[in-house]
Amino acid sequence: MKHAAFVFDAYGTLFDIHAAVRRHAGEIGPDGQLLSDIWRAKQLEYSWVRSLMGSYRDFWQLTQDALDYAFRKVPSADPALRQRLLDTYWRLDCYPEVPSVLKALKAQGVRLAILSNGSPAMIEGSVRAAALDTVIDEIFSADTVGRFKTDPSVYDLVTTAWRLYPSAVSFQSSNRWDVAGAHAFGFRTVWINRAGQPDEYPDHLPDVILPSLQGLLDAA
Ligand code: LAC
Repeated sequence: MKHAAFVFDAYGTLFDIHAAVRRHAGEIGPDGQLLSDIWRAKQLEYSWVRSLMGSYRDFWQLTQDALDYAFRKVPSADPALRQRLLDTYWRLDCYPEVPSVLKALKAQGVRLAILSNGSPAMIEGSVRAAALDTVIDEIFSADTVGRFKTDPSVYDLVTTAWRLYPSAVSFQSSNRWDVAGAHAFGFRTVWINRAGQPDEYPDHLPDVILPSLQGLLDAA
């Protein structure tokens, strides 16, 4: 193994961010995907804007603010579903290959962590619900520094805590902006391009691109 540690983004990489809306698709009606897309886009926008202006609110609060906005933009969806959607966010489905790939990596003796903008309680909830708590060695949350990725201080949580050079860390994310931030920090980066998106950030290219975590062992 060339890398001492494998660090994973949480939402969209391990956990399916659209699972909350999908579980209630029948009640939400025809605009469920639109609601889910706006919810995610605003959650991320709020994190970047708040980091830049130095006005931190934790990711759980931003997740709620973003859902409230999404309901206002999508009037066909009934805001009475708000609480149920939020509750689901604490136990999102993980993608099907996640448990076996993490276990196989662990068996190779590498350290495994999550590095997420999510608040610690949110991530711990999903990790427990997906029964990943026995394979994940540590959860690093942006909440510790009060800034969000792509601020370098967030990626630095891993290297400081584990006393590693950035190049010893393999960082996996399905979010291309996160891969750019991790590359700028000096991590080896693996873009998990689940949705087949076109590439961007040409000056911060991923080292490896995979359609899911499945090929990660071969690329290790
Ligand atoms: C994460 C989100 C933002 O950091 O994908 O887990």
